[in-house]
Amino acid sequence: NSKKSLAGKTVLITAGPTYEAIDPVRFIGNHSSGKMGYSLAEEAAKRGAKVILISGPSSLKTTNENIDIHRITSANEMYEKVFEFYRTSDIAIASAAVADYAPKVAATEKIKKNDDTLTIELVKNPDILKAMGEQKTHQILAGFALETNNEEENAKAKLEKKNLDLIILNSLRDEGAGFKNDTNKIKIFTRTEKLEFGLKSKEDVAKDILDCIENQILK
Ligand code: PMT
Repeated sequence: NSKKSLAGKTVLITAGPTYEAIDPVRFIGNHSSGKMGYSLAEEAAKRGAKVILISGPSSLKTTNENIDIHRITSANEMYEKVFEFYRTSDIAIASAAVADYAPKVAATEKIKKNDDTLTIELVKNPDILKAMGEQKTHQILAGFALETNNEEENAKAKLEKKNLDLIILNSLRDEGAGFKNDTNKIKIFTRTEKLEFGLKSKEDVAKDILDCIENQILK
């Protein structure tokens, strides 16, 4: 894209999983590789944006010098980092798979294998995207919904509840969609429209998402 359609814009993107420590060797995590978020970061940078990429643990690297990458581990760390940059961002896209719960305490020593059962108490993590929706001033705010059932209904509920401008739905019921794959299959819901796309590379999915966001800005 040589038209630099996002020149002068700051785009905040979250990517990857979060890891919630159980003890010094174990954590609660998920299958996110970061590919979807890193593809969005690369595409936004190609379009001339200044990109702030806040990434959970991922083996991926960025290639564009317009991407400032900030690596964090837990949901609480992601929350802190997001709100360092949110106010001055024009567009924010939450593609991270954030753990909803974390161990109440992380053991300081490795937990020993003693009893037949082990119970770990979990406490709710902050909902980062919901807080972004509550503190929205001028930003275009986009979230993801990763669903396994009642997909459209759940996605539309998240659009409302988190005060988003658009939500990108991907379903684990679609082959080649969601985690780890180099491909994804999405639907985008704005306040007024529903857009459906076929299975494509995450690079091309990122283009569709940013095209949709650019259209929202023009409105
Ligand atoms: O990284 P990849 O392997 O490429 O996989 C991409 C992906 C499947 C992770 C991505 O496409 C995706 O769907 N990301 C969102 C995953 C998710 O956690 O969805 P959710 O429906 O549980 O959450 C809804 C939204 O709220 C998301 O934008 C999420 O970032 C945000 N959220 C959720 C919980 C929380 N505590 N804080 C949040 O900000």
